[in-house]
Amino acid sequence: MVSKRNGRFSPSRCARSGDAVHAGVVVTLLLVVWCAQALEVSVGKVPLVEAMNGSTVLLPCIYSSCFGILNLKFNWHYNDNGSMIKLCEGVIPKDVMDPRVEVFHKRVEFVGCSKDSNISILLYNVTFEDEGEYTCFAKNPKEKDRNHSATFTLYVVDELKVVDNTLTTIIMSVVGGVIGLVIVVMITKAVVLFILKRSAEKNKECLVSSGQDNTENGLKTAKADNKATPKA
Ligand SMILES: *[C@@H]1O[C@H](CO)[C@@H](O)[C@H](O)[C@H]1NC(C)=O
Ligand SMILES: *[C@@H]1O[C@H](CO)[C@@H](O)[C@H](O)[C@H]1NC(C)=O
Ligand SMILES: *[C@@H]1O[C@H](CO)[C@@H](O)[C@H](O)[C@H]1NC(C)=O
Ligand SMILES: *[C@@H]1O[C@H](CO)[C@@H](O)[C@H](O)[C@H]1NC(C)=O
Ligand SMILES: *[C@@H]1O[C@H](CO)[C@@H](O)[C@H](O)[C@H]1NC(C)=O
Repeated sequence: MVSKRNGRFSPSRCARSGDAVHAGVVVTLLLVVWCAQALEVSVGKVPLVEAMNGSTVLLPCIYSSCFGILNLKFNWHYNDNGSMIKLCEGVIPKDVMDPRVEVFHKRVEFVGCSKDSNISILLYNVTFEDEGEYTCFAKNPKEKDRNHSATFTLYVVDELKVVDNTLTTIIMSVVGGVIGLVIVVMITKAVVLFILKRSAEKNKECLVSSGQDNTENGLKTAKADNKATPKA
């Protein structure tokens, strides 16, 4: 029961096929809803990389499946102006078994590892012609051979550009300066208003106290009022 609950409430925890078979219909349905994307292929958060010509670049790709893997077929394609060129292909017989891989490109090496669900490749001695889209396909026969793919874009540059932060720094300085100026202006305004108010009060009090000598009784209440209102 506990394990079923875990399976139900934590989407990150993948249920294995065995669980699904043994679990009740409701649980299975829930799993099916979750695992609508049963096999997922991903090339990482930032699906592009800049590489210097002549360098070696990693084209990352990982998969994950809620149903488990059985004869997962995968391949890498390079999109050369519309025509897809197959770089490598392989089959992963079972979840953690090493894949059988065939490579069709001189400068490509498969560096994946089934234990990490990793089907990344390395591309050696990058040339400018290598620039473009690299697609990682995967197909799990366990889920009706649906195709899954993720695309990775490679840019080849002559020299890695030093990230230019100057503009950002300038913008941040200007924004910071403006905010600082606004704060200074507001504080100055508040202080000036406060001083003006205080001096106005003083003037009133002076008037009142100067009048006090003449008609003491009549002004006592007025003075009290004066004191009460500004303090409130
Ligand atoms: C990169 O390309 C430039 C221009 O074609 C060339 O001069 C340079 O030698 C190349 N660098 C490497 C490491 O291949
Ligand atoms: C890409 O294909 C288009 C037409 O399909 C063609 O006009 C163009 O020259 C091609 N570019 C390269 C770099 O091969
Ligand atoms: C990459 O280039 C170096 C030097 O040019 C060469 O020795 C090496 O064999 C090349 N690697 C591949 C995989 O082509
Ligand atoms: C995949 O394997 C390669 C080579 O071992 C490694 O460099 C890369 O970091 C791995 N990627 C992930 C997402 O684990
Ligand atoms: C799946 O990908 C293969 C190429 O790897 C292609 O031949 C096939 O038509 C694709 N199927 C679907 C349903 O997209």
